[in-house]
Amino acid sequence: MDYSVLVIHLLGAAVWTGGHLVLALTVLPRALRLRDPEILREFEQGFERIGIPALLVQVASGVWLAWRYSPDPIAWITLADPVSAGIGLKLGLLVLTALFAVNARFRVIPQLSAETLPLMALHIRAVTLFSVLFVATGAYLSRGGF
Ligand code: HEM
Repeated sequence: MDYSVLVIHLLGAAVWTGGHLVLALTVLPRALRLRDPEILREFEQGFERIGIPALLVQVASGVWLAWRYSPDPIAWITLADPVSAGIGLKLGLLVLTALFAVNARFRVIPQLSAETLPLMALHIRAVTLFSVLFVATGAYLSRGGF
């Protein structure tokens, strides 16, 4: 069972982090160069359909895996030991990701124009950085350290 959950977690990571790297490194620079918000809107509409389910799968499978490592959620929040601290860091990244994603979805994207593209770029770069840190923290957890 743990093996299947880990495979699902890795697939979700491929979609979430991979999708954001494609967005930040290829789609976003094109939209900024051409000052065309439509390019981002088109990508977001397609990606949202698999990106959001992938993130939800990450949270469910991640909590399952975290439970196996440290079955005390209080230790995750108090960063009681190095493994729990890694799990706590992932939860912190999740909160930051949710704040940026909700702000982008409900405040930035509805007003998206050539003028507000740099603000959207900031959101995309931040969520992409968090997605890479999710992977780095996951590797730290799976190896039991650096
Ligand atoms: C988009 C969000 C996330 C991404 C991209 C992500 C990515 C990864 C990756 C790449 C690994 C390495 C797996 C390996 O090589 O063994 C991993 C492991 C892990 N992740 Fe996540 N993760 C995410 C969210 C979460 C969340 C929310 C939690 C729970 C708090 C979590 C808990 C874990 C745990 C406990 C492991 C170690 C699994 C093991 O080795 O058995 N992850 N994650």
